[in-house]
Amino acid sequence: MKKLLLVAASAAFVMGTVSLAPMSAQAAAWGKCKACHNFTHKKKVGPGLAGVIGREAGKVKGVKSKSLKSATWTWDDDKLRLWMCNSKKAIKTLTGDDHAKTKMPPQKICDPAKQDEVLAKLHSIS
Ligand code: HEC
Repeated sequence: MKKLLLVAASAAFVMGTVSLAPMSAQAAAWGKCKACHNFTHKKKVGPGLAGVIGREAGKVKGVKSKSLKSATWTWDDDKLRLWMCNSKKAIKTLTGDDHAKTKMPPQKICDPAKQDEVLAKLHSIS
């Protein structure tokens, strides 16, 4: 009986550590983007993010706002940092228009280390 309990306890311990692993993987900053974006070319709520680095902004399926559709910039690291910190503010800065609006809610990823995680992911699919 004692031995059986021990086996059960160690099984529970192993299961515990296994279930912790996916949780820490999900905590990566880019996990947030997946609610609305695919990391492919397929649109979801917003456009697919594959190939976004070096791509002209606002020209793919899934872009909805007038402001983003008429964008004239190309996505690079610095512009994406602005965007993932506060898209509502970034659309004004990047267009130079104080009335510009985007449908993407601000993600508040403003910490450079967190932004690095997201950029690494975006580079890996671009
Ligand atoms: C709640 C949904 C939502 C989340 C979460 C979200 N986005 Fe978006 N995203 C959108 C929508 C909607 C658009 C289109 C915006 C528009 O039309 O103004 C968009 C547009 C974009 C664009 C412009 C694409 C282009 O081709 O010009 C980029 C880049 C982008 N998102 C990156 C991100 C990143 C990186 C994250 C995670 C840190 C993220 N988004 C999280 C909804 C979201």
